[in-house]
Amino acid sequence: MQTLEIQRRFLEYFQRNGHTVVPSASLISQDPTVLFTIAGMAPFKPYFLGQQTPPWPRATSVQKVLRTLDIENVGQTTRHCTFFQMAGNFSFGDYFKAGAITHAWTLITSSVEDGGLGFDPERIWVTVYKNDDEAIRLWEEIAGLPAERIQRRGGEDNYWDMGVPGPGGPCSEIYYDRGPEYGLPGGPVADEDRYIEIWNLVFMQDVRGEDSPKYDFPPVGSLPEKNIDTGMGVERVAFLLQGVDNVYETDLMRPFIATAEQLSGRTYGENHTDDVRFRVIADHVRSAALVIADGVTPSNEGRGYVLRRLIRRVIRSIRLLGVTEPVMATLLTQVRDLLGPIYTDLATDFDRILRVAVAEEDSFRKTLESGSKLFTDAAAQTTAAGSSAVSGSTAFALHDTYGFPLDLTLEMADEVGLSVDVAGFKRLMDEQKARARADAKARKGGFADQHVYRELLELGATEFTGYDELTSEGTIRGLIADGERIPAAKAGDIVEVVLDRTSLYAEAGGQDSDAGQILGSGLSAEVLDVQKIARKLWVHQVRVTEGELTEGASVITAVDAANRARANQAHSATHLVNAALRELLGPDALQAGSYNKPGYLRLDFTWSGGLSGSARAEIEAAANRAITDNLAVTTSLSTVAEAKARGAVALFGEVYGDVVRVVEIGGPWSLELCGGTHVARSSEVGSLVLLGESSVGSGVRRVESYVGFDAFNHLAAERALLENLTGLLKVPSKELPSRVAGLVERLKTAEKELAAMRAAAVLSSAGSLVDGAQRLGDVELVAAALPSGTSAGDLRALAGDVKGRLGGRPAVVALFGEVDGTVPFVVAVTDAALATGLKAGELVKAFLPDIQGRGGGRPELAQGSGTNAAGTDDALASLRVTLGGSNG
Ligand code: SER
Repeated sequence: MQTLEIQRRFLEYFQRNGHTVVPSASLISQDPTVLFTIAGMAPFKPYFLGQQTPPWPRATSVQKVLRTLDIENVGQTTRHCTFFQMAGNFSFGDYFKAGAITHAWTLITSSVEDGGLGFDPERIWVTVYKNDDEAIRLWEEIAGLPAERIQRRGGEDNYWDMGVPGPGGPCSEIYYDRGPEYGLPGGPVADEDRYIEIWNLVFMQDVRGEDSPKYDFPPVGSLPEKNIDTGMGVERVAFLLQGVDNVYETDLMRPFIATAEQLSGRTYGENHTDDVRFRVIADHVRSAALVIADGVTPSNEGRGYVLRRLIRRVIRSIRLLGVTEPVMATLLTQVRDLLGPIYTDLATDFDRILRVAVAEEDSFRKTLESGSKLFTDAAAQTTAAGSSAVSGSTAFALHDTYGFPLDLTLEMADEVGLSVDVAGFKRLMDEQKARARADAKARKGGFADQHVYRELLELGATEFTGYDELTSEGTIRGLIADGERIPAAKAGDIVEVVLDRTSLYAEAGGQDSDAGQILGSGLSAEVLDVQKIARKLWVHQVRVTEGELTEGASVITAVDAANRARANQAHSATHLVNAALRELLGPDALQAGSYNKPGYLRLDFTWSGGLSGSARAEIEAAANRAITDNLAVTTSLSTVAEAKARGAVALFGEVYGDVVRVVEIGGPWSLELCGGTHVARSSEVGSLVLLGESSVGSGVRRVESYVGFDAFNHLAAERALLENLTGLLKVPSKELPSRVAGLVERLKTAEKELAAMRAAAVLSSAGSLVDGAQRLGDVELVAAALPSGTSAGDLRALAGDVKGRLGGRPAVVALFGEVDGTVPFVVAVTDAALATGLKAGELVKAFLPDIQGRGGGRPELAQGSGTNAAGTDDALASLRVTLGGSNG
């Protein structure tokens, strides 16, 4: 049975049984404790906890899931995948254990003809939490399972929670017996290779505290209702129903291995080392495509870093299979074709996904090349030095500069029979991390340790009032210093303040946080920074300036109004520039990041190649036209689906149930999801000046602008500059370009003439140089340091002339010039001097060190150049000594 068919049957079964089919949420987790969605239940967490009312009592979904904790193990075994699909049914206070068991049993054991999955009931085993007698009884009654196929297990196997404080409960797992050829008898407790887990039924009823009931710590409370959360591994069911050995052999995985086989000419299943590479490619390319589809772009931290690793591991693996050409386009096309029918974004957004992945591939391929060179040199040096271990600092440099993970360096070292000083590498990494931590602390004064925030989050979210009012009353929920709660803070202290209500905007969506104050009777604090934790908790970093802040105190948050007005201008202007870009360049110019603060904005967007001057001018004009048109700026709330239908972009990380804020300027011309603060009408932006456009990494460009009064100031300064120039050059500003061009032309001509005159002067000095010849032993020396600007060519011509004038006299001619700080020189030896055994090529060696020069030549003529112009006199002296005269 194909994977798609398994999913269809699952959802249809539960839909028939009163469940609402909920589309998969984004892979990007809304939960601050994890980066990605790690289970089918994750999007429903607020319903289980009773923080939100579920819109339906029963739901079912096939959820995209990403788990990267074990990324190193992917491919090493056939069990690990980073991306997989979890089919689940959920009850929010509706049915409980009996319902969950009935549904699961019916679906897996009903015949294929009856819409089921057709598993042989005789081969099904289950496990239950150690003391869950009720579950045992239900399995016996509902499924008729004999007692020997029901096994009790401890919390580690049969208690499920999210790995962090939150909902949890005992669970019951369903296994399928593959038969004696796959391992030992005795059920799942004896062998989890023979008995494959296909479905986990969680009886979600507890609140887990800091320590998990998995390890026998008691839950800290009960959930408001008894719920059901189940997760069936779609890939696992697929491999069992497709009669293959593991998930990598299934219909939505094996084709990637086949492609890698074709590209590399190698065969899967021949040796473990290559097999690992094949499996890494198959797994990671799916993960990477889906993560990009959900709006992540490669970067060096958080989700972006995970994505970067996924893509880079694909590229390394294919390279280690002997393929040096780019492969991303081929592999991603295959992801689109195979998974696009399930995750339609893969098809509709394919061009962008491809661009992001290919840009990362390009840059990593370049990096690999430079890094490989560095590695080859380091390996050669290691061997030459008689060592067998590549140094920790080389491994660190490869990691830091070239993005080589340690395992790549280890692999490359292994290939040339070397090891790596891993301990040294780790030490350097630790030092770097410590530096980064110190930096982060210096910058934000905390914002690091999450547990305090979690604690405060449990008291409820902060209400943000700052769209409607600039001053608000609020109560201090908590004060934090160095990651710990404190009861009070006095004047001079820098602390974090969490309030139940605030009018102060927290940095988000590219907009810098508000400036302002927190005030109370006899107390005031200056706001330094405001950050949002988990989109819900406003954390104000403040310096107490007067009195004492105490937990529970009533205070007023006061936004600096002038600063906010300028922030509004900058944020609205960012939308204008974005709309102008899309108007001119089309939908491919996708916003990739932005930052704005009073007076300034920058916007990054995907685009290959620079913008022409006229394109920049058009964008600037379109934005200013929108300002002049005095367009209304409206905000409204909408569902993700509605916003999407109206053409809103950047719907990243939203979940299906989310209500989003839509900001429009001039109707759909500029329609963005945005939580920022804005002007009421576009004309309030005042004006906008585009400062320029540059590249910020492959395939991403950046425009920067001044807005409002800062734009005026910028233009005023430019005009003052222009006035200065018209005054200096005494022409009207219109004529400046032709005047400057004319001046440059005349300057060039003058320089040429000057050079010619200087050369003539040098050449005309031949006669006086000969007159000044100095006798040193058997020969005469004609030597001179010529004025600055005398080139090697001038020197050669002059030396020839001097030599001619010396006729049959035994003589050496040594001439030094100077061009741009270098010292060209020529040494010529007359025929009569040659007869005494002197050689020009030998003579220059006498003075090369004086001028830090290089050079040489034939016996009759040698030349070269030095870099130390100050050493010319010493050079002449050295030459005299060599020729046998005194030093003078
Ligand atoms: N939450 C459980 C799991 O992830 C069941 O959905 O296994």
